[in-house]
Amino acid sequence: MDYKDLIATNISKITGLDKDKVYSLIEIPPQLEMGDYAFPCFTLAKELRKAPPMIAADIAADPSLTTGALTVKNVGPYVNFYVDREVLAQEVITEIISAGDKYGTDDLGGGKNVIVEYSSPNIAKPFHVGHAFTTILGNSIANIYTKLGYNVIRFNHLGDYGTQFGKLITAYRLWGDEAAMEEDAITELTRIYVKFHDEAKKDPSLEDTARDNFRKLEEGCEEEVALWKRFRELSLAVFEKTYQRMGVKFDNYNGESFYSSRIPPVVDLLRDKGLLTESEGAQVVMLEDEGLPPCIILKSDGTTIYASRDLAAAIYRHENFDFYKNIYVVGLPQQLHFKQVFAVLKKAGFDFADDCVHVGFGLLKFKDGSAFSTREGNIVLLDDLLNKTVEKTEEIIRKNAEERGDDMTEDEIKDIAEKVGIGAVIYTYLKSGREKDILFDWDDMLDFEGDTAPYLIYTYARIRSILRKAEGLGLGASSGDSLKLLAGDEEYAVIRSLSDFKDSVRRAASSYEPFVVAKQVALIARNFNRFYNNSSILNADSEDIKRARLALCVAVADTLKSGLGLLGINVVEKM
Ligand code: ARG
Repeated sequence: MDYKDLIATNISKITGLDKDKVYSLIEIPPQLEMGDYAFPCFTLAKELRKAPPMIAADIAADPSLTTGALTVKNVGPYVNFYVDREVLAQEVITEIISAGDKYGTDDLGGGKNVIVEYSSPNIAKPFHVGHAFTTILGNSIANIYTKLGYNVIRFNHLGDYGTQFGKLITAYRLWGDEAAMEEDAITELTRIYVKFHDEAKKDPSLEDTARDNFRKLEEGCEEEVALWKRFRELSLAVFEKTYQRMGVKFDNYNGESFYSSRIPPVVDLLRDKGLLTESEGAQVVMLEDEGLPPCIILKSDGTTIYASRDLAAAIYRHENFDFYKNIYVVGLPQQLHFKQVFAVLKKAGFDFADDCVHVGFGLLKFKDGSAFSTREGNIVLLDDLLNKTVEKTEEIIRKNAEERGDDMTEDEIKDIAEKVGIGAVIYTYLKSGREKDILFDWDDMLDFEGDTAPYLIYTYARIRSILRKAEGLGLGASSGDSLKLLAGDEEYAVIRSLSDFKDSVRRAASSYEPFVVAKQVALIARNFNRFYNNSSILNADSEDIKRARLALCVAVADTLKSGLGLLGINVVEKM
């Protein structure tokens, strides 16, 4: 039973307020004594023209609220709800065990199309830790929407267009090293790009050659297009290795170049609607009525620009996917750009502009910046970050195994370190609200007792080990009636947090904030560990209690796996 939903429905019937509004007002009290759900009446005072405590008393007195497992109590301006512990224990554990690690799955989305655009690195440029933020955040948002029954299409809007390709073609013809290209295309392309700029200072005619090569590329000249294609393919192959390592996939790699040929009809349409104005030789759409600076569509030399490619892209996506939502996971510095693009679409009569969402995020900063000797000056490459984290994780795993006298094989250690290390990086990005800057610190992120992925994965692995032991003893998890036995305060806290997991997935989706799921998973793990540290499972007083507690273990493990999976983090069975 979804009690929050039931309470919202009933209060909405009693008060005549909108159900979604009621739902969003319902709180989960921080202390168990205050009930399982609380409905605060402060914000209703104006609408209902009554004092909050009176509203609360009236609502609480309505007999329709006390149904089945629910008890109601009025405390001041709150209506507090208590769910019968025995009933909730049975319901929640039974539901989780039958869903397994699919727990949290919902059909809310009804198969509607949701586009999530994320990662979108620039071809021939290194993949740095900023691109990791969009990659990790976008992947998680896509996972969350998938879980809720939406049909998610994952877009990678590659930066594969622009005058720099004229420079790269020129540089490649002069100094390109084939073998180095095959080995690591991005490093080689970066090398010749930097060289181009150094040499062009001495010989400005190189810039003219580059412009000429870019023009040829735009006109579709065979040789230039072939080179560009090769740069694109080789770069993508390098990115793909990182994606694979992170478990990230895409359905669509249409980059900026794909949309550039779709710009002329967009320009015609804007002109027909009388939206184009000339400003200093450029063609712009004025947006002062929206309080925004003009959006440049064509530069004074007639060439297209980043924003026009995004306009063409949004229209293309709408035509081909008739999306319910089109989500752009791109850093906060591009906020103004997206406001302008959405405003131009709206002015041009595309109402789907209201379904386009820019999901911004902050910066990654390092407590110890010197921890990296980067190839790229002050840019930190994601690969370097991952390698270093996995290396440090491996040391810890090895040391822990030795201390325990565990004879893990070298392969096991390596595999666990890879999963836990990458999980640690992912969790660092997702554990706080996305608009906050992140201060990256090794000791914090690898603290096995802190708010970290290693702590969560370790909790999962520990439960799996208990379950293996139980299996060895021929002890299985119980079901049905005997789950009532899980009514102690600490057990109940675990069950409460398990039961709120589904709601956390929905809240994460509507706010585009995977940290809501991260927080819930962390709460479940903390509650479980508190219970586990104070009670025995395999040595409990009776066989029935042992089995009921094993069922709790299974439910926690399944939910941790499900929740971590939504963040893009893999669990390990042993650690
Ligand atoms: N390639 C761009 C960058 O690295 C991000 C692209 C964002 N997506 C978009 N539709 N404009 O900054």
